[in-house]
Amino acid sequence: MKFIQSVRVRLTLWYIFILGCTLTLFSMLVYYQMSRSLYKSVDHKILTISEVIASSLSPHSNSVFSDIERDLAKKVGRQPTAKFIQLLDRSGNIGGKSLNLRNKRLPVSYKALQNAAKGVITYETKEVFGEPLRIITYPVKRKGTGIHSIVQVATSLSGVKETLTQLLFILFSIVPLALIIASIGGIFLANKVLKPINEINRITREITSKNLELRVPKPATHDELSQLVETINGMIQRLEESFKQIQQFTADASHELKTPLTILKGEAELALRKERPPEEYRAYLRSSLEEINRMTRLVQDLLVLSRADTGRLALHREPINLATLINSCFDQCRFLVEDRDVQLTYHCQADAWVIGDKYRLKQMLFNLVENAIKYSKQKGKVVISTAQNGKFVNLLVKDEGVGIDSKDIPYIFDRFYRVDKSRSREAGGTGLGLSICKWIAEAHGGRITVQSTPGLGSCFTVWLPKSQAPSNVAEGGKGDEV
Ligand SMILES: Nc1ncnc2c1ncn2[C@@H]1O[C@H](COP(=O)(O)OP(=O)(O)O)[C@@H](O)[C@H]1O
Ligand SMILES: [Mg+2]
Repeated sequence: MKFIQSVRVRLTLWYIFILGCTLTLFSMLVYYQMSRSLYKSVDHKILTISEVIASSLSPHSNSVFSDIERDLAKKVGRQPTAKFIQLLDRSGNIGGKSLNLRNKRLPVSYKALQNAAKGVITYETKEVFGEPLRIITYPVKRKGTGIHSIVQVATSLSGVKETLTQLLFILFSIVPLALIIASIGGIFLANKVLKPINEINRITREITSKNLELRVPKPATHDELSQLVETINGMIQRLEESFKQIQQFTADASHELKTPLTILKGEAELALRKERPPEEYRAYLRSSLEEINRMTRLVQDLLVLSRADTGRLALHREPINLATLINSCFDQCRFLVEDRDVQLTYHCQADAWVIGDKYRLKQMLFNLVENAIKYSKQKGKVVISTAQNGKFVNLLVKDEGVGIDSKDIPYIFDRFYRVDKSRSREAGGTGLGLSICKWIAEAHGGRITVQSTPGLGSCFTVWLPKSQAPSNVAEGGKGDEV
């Protein structure tokens, strides 16, 4: 049955089946039409002879049959061959017959006599003298006297039968022959059409993670197969890009983890080199804790992103008022400015509602505020605000910090991308904060954009789909300002 599973075989079989049905139908039609027209022409011939004979019969029929035969030969131009003629009176008694009948007689059926009495012509096919005969029973009418006599003309159907047998033989031999030729042609065509599929099969089988740069050669034609090749090549390209990203991500992640580990190892080795006063040990431990915190944050961020990538990070959606969210996040952010000369304020509308995950939205806001403070200048201002914008609610975090160069803006949302690596590291950054923010905004059906002027500051805008206030919440007044 494996053989049937091949498209090539299935295509050819269907092709043969449809052609077989068409040819059989066609043959049946040809045979039917041919036999109809042959029988019709026989009937026509015997009718003509009957008419000629009927017209030769004088009203006072004394004419002997040999006269009629002679008369007929004169009118038709030759002696009618293989035709039997018989003359009957109204009651069916034989009045005369052609010489070729000798001592035999044509059969006269009761039905034919009945029809003749009514003036109706009857055609019959009967097996007589060992051969099939077509017999016409033709009533001869005379004006006033009604049916005068009956003419019977019979002719052999052997010729017709022979012609039909020959036709049947031709059809029976042509149909299988045509099917054999068609199946060979079908297999050839199917092979030709499906050849590129074998090539696609061979190359795609060769592709592994090690040679993702391989591509299936595009056929010269612009048909479904070339579209298929394009689709496969597009898929391989996307896979190649994803693979490269994963490799890059793994390399970056290991590098990020390697740095604090090297520092930890170096410090521990240094601390252990000789006996030291407790004060120095405490300083080493404090420094180690800093690196451990950095690593913990990095691992947490990596975990969030990898879960987001595999779709395992579900959002717990609920109606959220952005003013409440900012308010609760503000307390956490306040400690970030404790040792910095930066002023953190917020003002927001009370009716800014979205459907979202409270924990993730807080995480996004915290990351943005942390960046704004981290990259702020001394005495800079950081402002958190909200705005209504058509179908969206905007959450804005504006700072008066170092700003971002326009050439860096397209990359800042990429994983591990940092404009100033050492500054970011010093401030405890992992280079993953904005990637997480981007994922959170998009997972909420929104996006994140940035406007920045180097030296003047940046403004990050999160676009979140607006939602109606839940019916059980009364509309609040103007937002707080700190
Ligand atoms: N408010 C900002 N002002 C200036 N640069 C910023 C700001 N926010 C982000 N950046 C730049 O974008 C980079 C990526 O940010 P992020 O993903 O949060 O990483 P991290 O904060 O760990 O460095 C930062 O390293 C910094 O160069
Ligand atoms: Mg950050």
